[in-house]
Amino acid sequence: MSEHENPYPGENNTGHFWDDDNDIRELDNRPPRWYMWALYLGIIAIPIYSFYYPTIPWFGEHTKGSAGWTQIVEYKEGVEQLKQYREIKFSDTEKAITESSLEDIVRDDELRNYAIKTAKVLFGDNCAACHGAGGQGNDGFPVLADDDWLYGGTLAQISTSITNGRKGNMPARMMGISDADADTLATFLIETGKGATGKPNPASKPLYMTKGCIGCHGPTMKGNVFMGSANLSDGIYRFKTSDQKSSIIRTILHGVNQGHDPLTQDAVMPSFGTSTVIDKTQIKKLAVYVHQLGGGVAVKPKPVALPKAEIPKIETTASAKVSTRGGKEIYTKCQGCHNVGIGGAPKYGDKIAWQSRIKRGMDDVLSVAKAGKGMMPPKGTCMDCSDTELRLVIQYMMDSAK
Ligand code: HEC
Ligand code: HEC
Ligand code: HEC
Repeated sequence: MSEHENPYPGENNTGHFWDDDNDIRELDNRPPRWYMWALYLGIIAIPIYSFYYPTIPWFGEHTKGSAGWTQIVEYKEGVEQLKQYREIKFSDTEKAITESSLEDIVRDDELRNYAIKTAKVLFGDNCAACHGAGGQGNDGFPVLADDDWLYGGTLAQISTSITNGRKGNMPARMMGISDADADTLATFLIETGKGATGKPNPASKPLYMTKGCIGCHGPTMKGNVFMGSANLSDGIYRFKTSDQKSSIIRTILHGVNQGHDPLTQDAVMPSFGTSTVIDKTQIKKLAVYVHQLGGGVAVKPKPVALPKAEIPKIETTASAKVSTRGGKEIYTKCQGCHNVGIGGAPKYGDKIAWQSRIKRGMDDVLSVAKAGKGMMPPKGTCMDCSDTELRLVIQYMMDSAK
């Protein structure tokens, strides 16, 4: 085809025609300008990019770039930001936990939920290895998720267990117990533990009563939370094995935490009160967490207390309008936004939202409320409200977050 005379002499084609009708021809046009510019910019960008960022493989490593950027640095910055954000967001709740009694934390839905959520991780890191991920216990480590407590299931007792640690003490081979006695006692305990279906031999009872067991486990075999001497009447064993009887015999013959006896049952709960990994606030959270795992002794509701005398000072200057409306009454004007939190309005009853404002102090908050801010209209639309009335309604909202 190239032999033919160029039928399009004015056109800058190359002379290559790809079909018989010469409809498909190869032209020799310059690429469009935008394309070339993009190409040049790309070429310029390469050295700039390589100068700032790690790019070129270099003797088994790579060039570092002048910006010092690495993914790890970026990641660490992100983590740091998140940490700061959390600290700010939860600082009020953390503080409230530090300052509240254990009972008050449990009574308060928000504090309790926060404590439980945050303690879950602490428990996993510090306790689960011995007590199991859900506090279900392990061989030799007591269950924390039932209501069978060695040392008691009140918040205070649990907290003491964690703070001071525990180390039960049961002497080996009390008062010259023979192997046969131990066997008899073990059978007696197992049968007693079966409850109504068990057949404890009454002839074995005197052995229990005379060999010193009663001193710690008590005449009714219920144990004693001050000594951590297990309840022997319920058939629940903290030293569990598939052959429960031989485990009981071992306990009777070798005792608990009798260091000199290699077969003794080890039972040491480390003390976390002096630990550097867990602080006092975290111990509180853990106590609340363990308490709700299943067997905590219920916390009584707080006795109804008269509201604290925190009603703001009523202005007594002659110019002040005498207030006729109470906070609750005026609040009907504010509730449209403050009940649901429209536009970021601090919600009625929202602890976190109000605590930071309580901290800033009434005067400051009042001045913001009077002037308006963002979607908060000046005076919250209560144009005929006096300062005193605004104080009352703000106090009313603040009290909701206590
Ligand atoms: C090294 C193992 C170990 C670790 C870790 C451990 N515990 Fe314990 N814990 C024990 C043992 C053993 C006992 C029983 C002590 C005894 O029998 O005298 C115990 C007892 C307790 C008790 C008392 C139980 C009762 O029935 O009265 C509580 C509560 C408790 N631990 C909570 C915790 C919490 C919370 C953590 C984590 C902060 C934790 N423990 C970490 C081994 C451990
Ligand atoms: C000085 C107090 C003391 C005396 C006396 C004593 N015990 Fe104990 N016993 C304990 C303590 C404390 C524990 C719980 C240890 C622990 O869990 O840390 C225990 C645990 C046990 C256990 C294991 C319970 C379980 O849940 O696995 C058995 C069984 C037992 N004792 C039986 C006896 C018998 C039988 C006698 C009498 C021969 C006796 N004990 C005398 C303090 C005593
Ligand atoms: C139209 C919705 C709306 C109404 C009505 C409203 N508020 Fe607000 N309010 C807001 C919003 C939004 C904010 C959050 C402003 C911010 O912090 O950006 C807010 C914040 C506040 C604050 C906190 C100010 C501070 O210092 O952070 C107070 C106090 C307050 N309102 C009081 C009232 C009172 C009292 C009324 C009724 C008389 C009222 N508001 C009515 C929307 C409203």
